[in-house]
Amino acid sequence: MTPFPLEGLPERVTIYEVGPRDGLQNEKAIVSVADKAEFIARLADAGLRTIEATSFVHPKWVPQLADAEELLGGMTRAEGVRYPVLVPNERGLDRALASGVTEIAVFGSATESFARRNLNRTIDESLAMFAPVVGRAREAGLWVRAYVSMCFGDPWEGEVPIEQVVSVAVRLMELGCSQLSLGDTIGVGTPGHVTALIEALIEAGIGVDRLAVHFHDTYGQALANTLAALRCGVTVVDASAGGIGGCPYAESATGNLATEDLVWMLHGLGIETGVDLPKLAAVSRWMAARLGRPSPSRVVQALSSKD
Ligand code: HMG
Ligand code: MG
Repeated sequence: MTPFPLEGLPERVTIYEVGPRDGLQNEKAIVSVADKAEFIARLADAGLRTIEATSFVHPKWVPQLADAEELLGGMTRAEGVRYPVLVPNERGLDRALASGVTEIAVFGSATESFARRNLNRTIDESLAMFAPVVGRAREAGLWVRAYVSMCFGDPWEGEVPIEQVVSVAVRLMELGCSQLSLGDTIGVGTPGHVTALIEALIEAGIGVDRLAVHFHDTYGQALANTLAALRCGVTVVDASAGGIGGCPYAESATGNLATEDLVWMLHGLGIETGVDLPKLAAVSRWMAARLGRPSPSRVVQALSSKD
């Protein structure tokens, strides 16, 4: 395909692949540890360089990822690939450190309702829970990302004011996190809203080089929202291979933006990703067969119909 660049966009985008974590955490089918390890290895082989592997959360809260130790103990790590994991508290950090993890992500919420449902804490209590995690992780030389969920809307509270998101975001970054991923957990954001939030965060002193975007595609806005974020200068975009997943503690959260849909758009714009699209789509078809349902990604479907 001949690329048609647009002015003002980056030359290269880093895709932060969340399929093995955000994707698999909400799938009903049981995926074996061996299949998870193969999924991760094949994603790396398709060119992804950051692959969120799993979560060290309470196994009762997310049973799909209860095998985190076994997975990290058995999977192969490719040269030059980063494998961050989700860590909510010090117990999770201890488990992650024992598994040889070098990148972690804490995950906060812009709303009290979701903080309570996802972390069993108020916003203040969750920040207090993260503080020693980030402190100890940094002392141990780990890279730390922070997510902030419900950046645009919340199923229990409705639209979320920009100032509320900025306030939580600033507090998370003050803990010492290196990157902030803006989660549209239920996929209700639209491009103007995305632009307004990113501008407000920049205004509050969080450099755009430290921002990432994390769109779920519930209302079909994820690609449009990504383009809006790229126009603001964001160069890290979260996506899930095949568009699998959702969040078990957020009503109506469907899969993330599919990595294939993102790569199709970026390559069409002449933006480098390092990803081999046909190889990636083959990985997603393989995983869809394991999950027992077709991939929701439009690009995976379109490429499959040509085979
Ligand atoms: P809690 O029940 O309040 O935990 O859960 P606690 O601190 O009271 O501890 C209770 C027991 O759990 C203790 O055991 C702890 O040791 C144990 P006991 O002493 O009673 O025998 N425990 C643990 N065990 C293993 N690993 C741990 C752990 N922590 C405590 N890490 C907690 C609080 C945070 C643990 C719980 O709420 C939890 O695990 N939540 C995770 C929910 C989750 O994973 N959600 C999905 C990820 S977020 C997401 O998907 C959004 C995102 O994609 C961005 C977006 O889309 O917006 C990131
Ligand atoms: Mg998510």
